[in-house]
Amino acid sequence: KEGFGKSKLKFTAIKPVDAAVDAVTVPDGFTWQPVIRWGDPLFSDSPDFDINKQTAAAQARQFGYNNDYTDILEIPNTKGRRAVLFTNHEYTNENIMVPAGYDAKETRAIGRAAHGLAVVELERKNTTKPWSYVKGAPLNRRFLDDTTYELTGPVAGSALVKTVADPSGKAIKGTFGNCSGGTTPWGTILSGEENFNGYFVAGGTSASDKRYGLTANATSRKWELDDPRFDTRNAGYENEANRFGWIVEVDPFDPTSTPKKHSAMGRFKHEGANVIVAKSGHVVAYMGDDERFDYLYKFVSKGKYIEGDRKNNMGLLSEGNLFVAQFTGNSPAAEITGTGAVPSDGAFDGIGEWLPLVVDGKSAIAGMSVEEVLVHTRIAADKAANAKGGPTKMDRCEDVQPSLHTGKVYVVCTNNSDRGKAGKEGATEVNPRTQNRDGHIVEITETGDQTSTSFGWNLLMVCGDPAQGDVTYFSGYPVDKVSPISCPDNVAFDSVGNLWISTDGAPSGIGYNDGLFKVTLDGAERGKVEQFLAVPRDAETCGPIIHDEERTVFVAVQHPGEEGTFEAPHSYFPDYVGAGAKPAAGQVRAPRPAVIQVFRG
Ligand code: FEO
Ligand code: CA
Ligand code: CA
Ligand code: CA
Repeated sequence: KEGFGKSKLKFTAIKPVDAAVDAVTVPDGFTWQPVIRWGDPLFSDSPDFDINKQTAAAQARQFGYNNDYTDILEIPNTKGRRAVLFTNHEYTNENIMVPAGYDAKETRAIGRAAHGLAVVELERKNTTKPWSYVKGAPLNRRFLDDTTYELTGPVAGSALVKTVADPSGKAIKGTFGNCSGGTTPWGTILSGEENFNGYFVAGGTSASDKRYGLTANATSRKWELDDPRFDTRNAGYENEANRFGWIVEVDPFDPTSTPKKHSAMGRFKHEGANVIVAKSGHVVAYMGDDERFDYLYKFVSKGKYIEGDRKNNMGLLSEGNLFVAQFTGNSPAAEITGTGAVPSDGAFDGIGEWLPLVVDGKSAIAGMSVEEVLVHTRIAADKAANAKGGPTKMDRCEDVQPSLHTGKVYVVCTNNSDRGKAGKEGATEVNPRTQNRDGHIVEITETGDQTSTSFGWNLLMVCGDPAQGDVTYFSGYPVDKVSPISCPDNVAFDSVGNLWISTDGAPSGIGYNDGLFKVTLDGAERGKVEQFLAVPRDAETCGPIIHDEERTVFVAVQHPGEEGTFEAPHSYFPDYVGAGAKPAAGQVRAPRPAVIQVFRG
């Protein structure tokens, strides 16, 4: 439906913030504060954070590092005064976490304990007040490298995932490299295992190792020195890397529940997964593989959603059909110049098809079993084809999210510096820029029901900074009236259907700090981009949660000060005790990744 309502969250766009600035910048009339920071104690027995006395045992009882996907779900029957926060801990920056010379083995163990997931209860006095986290609350939970995940679906128990430590092939320890995610209609959280290859040493010569970027090099964190499973050349652990690269599902309301990894949704560098219930009742999940020239995927459940039947709904992602996307443009190839200039029909647009990988429990790829298609999904997708050819190589699909207002799906392509380089594919209508530094967003309209195998598409925007001469496109909205935007990554919708975009990489592109942007999707102002906030130096903006009816926005500030060192920090976020200043009690002179809230006040 067209004509969205007006949001209660009104603001005047901020100006872009120079990339050297170490500050959170919010619109006039708004203020910000952390909800929870790296190291904050979660349990009644957790030690307080002491940056000079870190141990792995302490970290395991504290909030971890580098949050990406974040959501806040109200706990029922609490009058809006109690909620549960889910977030992940994607990776660690040991160079700014511990002083130089810290014990190497302990540093590795601290890093491992700072990975994984977290569930934390929040409280507030009333619905006009900011949230605080509750130490020792019953739902608080850390998911660590020894937390067991149940592998579901066709690959569970297969020879491709068995190890000496897990002969069942169904019980996997830990989750690493968790990036974006999604919240399901039944109140669980999905998390994408993304850059899992960076945690393993491997043979590096098999077709699968090569396609997934697994190499024989030592890893940057060197966990292979502490646990043999992180080197898949070790006898009994040949399949260990096959146990990562999945979509994880967590029930944040049950601290005793076993989290799941869903093999039916395929294995690749999962950015995240976002679910919508189709008219037919099947649930559909959209998923990006975040790698240059990799693909966009869609999962359609075999079973149907039943409102209120949590047990049924929590099984839906374990069985279904898997597809990979093929986009076809409708403008002459000669009009796709690689610059981002709009073709003569006035739009980057066309049609598309979902090519089958698994249908009705059977492999759609000749020569590959269902288990092989789901474990080596990239290789299976390379072989998928119709009369027009194979799936479309994308410019790094990050979040892929359907609007619950319109059913249209937004595919965020963050950038692709290699497009058009020697030996690489050049510009296409759906990825229209060579050496795509600033990224773009594709809007998909499924043909009929969300389960359809065909669709139409157009580009919502081709990002950049028009003021610096970049060729950009904002659905026809005047380019001199938008906030400059580069490297879109995570998206969320507000209650009236506006799209909000967080960015990762703007400093190296357009020279501004990353931020959060509101985009109008309908009417005369379609394509209007307004910057809401900017994150501190070196940070990426993640998470976003838009509670526009409460005039509140949440973001995860990931890797602030990442390019600095412990001794010479680039950032003092969020405690802001500058160099030379004497820290007050509880303040820390090092950046701490945190989830923050931005509100009127
Ligand atoms: Fe972790 Fe695709 O960003
Ligand atoms: Ca066109
Ligand atoms: Ca991302
Ligand atoms: Ca990213």
